Amino acid sequence: MYLSAVFALLSAAATAVNAAQCSAGKPPFKTGELSKDQFTAKGRRYRVHLPAGYDPTKPTPVILSYHGAHGTIEKQCALDQLTDPARNRDYIVVYLQALVPQGSDKTEWQVAPGADKTDDVGFTADVLAALDGKLCVDPRRVYATGKSQGGGFVGQTLACDATLSARFAAFAPVAGAYYIKDTPRDKCEPTSRVAIPCATRRKDTPVMAFHGGADPTIPYRGTWRKKTNSCLPDIRHWAREWAVARDGLQGTQRNTTIPGSQHGVRSAWRDDRVVLVYAGDEVQHDWPSTTVNSDNKGHSVAAFNASDDIIKWFGKWKL
Ligand SMILES: *[C@@H]1O[C@H](CO)[C@@H](O)[C@H](O)[C@H]1NC(C)=O
Ligand SMILES: *[C@@H]1O[C@H](CO)[C@@H](O)[C@H](O)[C@H]1NC(C)=O
Repeated sequence: MYLSAVFALLSAAATAVNAAQCSAGKPPFKTGELSKDQFTAKGRRYRVHLPAGYDPTKPTPVILSYHGAHGTIEKQCALDQLTDPARNRDYIVVYLQALVPQGSDKTEWQVAPGADKTDDVGFTADVLAALDGKLCVDPRRVYATGKSQGGGFVGQTLACDATLSARFAAFAPVAGAYYIKDTPRDKCEPTSRVAIPCATRRKDTPVMAFHGGADPTIPYRGTWRKKTNSCLPDIRHWAREWAVARDGLQGTQRNTTIPGSQHGVRSAWRDDRVVLVYAGDEVQHDWPSTTVNSDNKGHSVAAFNASDDIIKWFGKWKL
């Protein structure tokens, strides 16, 4: 019984690996640069970056990166710098493009009120399937990151999806907009206690969330949005729900200060499985970076590079 269970697991893993396109030959994209536009069968756009050392016979980890509202693939690539060989030599990085939902004037992800009819979970599944058809993807090392609404989509939609959450080894949202839709004010407040729906069946989801204390767009303490009757939870509450309510890591939180930041704290629950990075009192609605980027220009840079932390932390997790 035991042996046959082990065998079933092993052969399931082998089948998953074989599903990806792992064979010698020329990679379908030039390495070290962003591919030209790719489209799913349903016409959704994405672009792929292969690291310089990409070996088409070797199962390779992949990061999916989601831009913010109003954003584009190209803007997100310039912002997250995950294709910079100085920080990433190992991961394929894939950028996905959101649509402009009917009635909206900007690109938005499914997590947002008003974008309910957009199937970005289906889009993500289609992109994963398309990658498997073209590249040697390691199915045990697929990761997701994103900024603002893209972060909300990663941390609140993908990570909470009953099916697709099982395809990702870890999730790293930045300044995430974790919308809870159709929530009247009296259900939203206090934002430190609002009920956060989540359909994941996993009990071990690794999540690393970054947030600035001076974020005027998605406030750290949460808020209620009258116009859309939606709730943004307190970020500490949102992270604690992952750590304690879903992953069962109560009593194990460890805090470390972030040198050079204004009261920045990294709060980690057991083995870093859930990490909340409070980027500092000075950090706004930004992708934390010690150099100027399209988010922080004109105000304060951060004391660390979120992208370096993300790459390092993703390296700890595998399905
Ligand atoms: C860690 O910091 C948070 C606030 O960011 C606080 O609520 C919590 O009690 C601290 N935990 C420990 C173990 O110091
Ligand atoms: C952050 O990344 C930049 C390059 O984008 C680099 O110059 C800088 O030294 C990095 N900062 C830290 C603290 O590693």
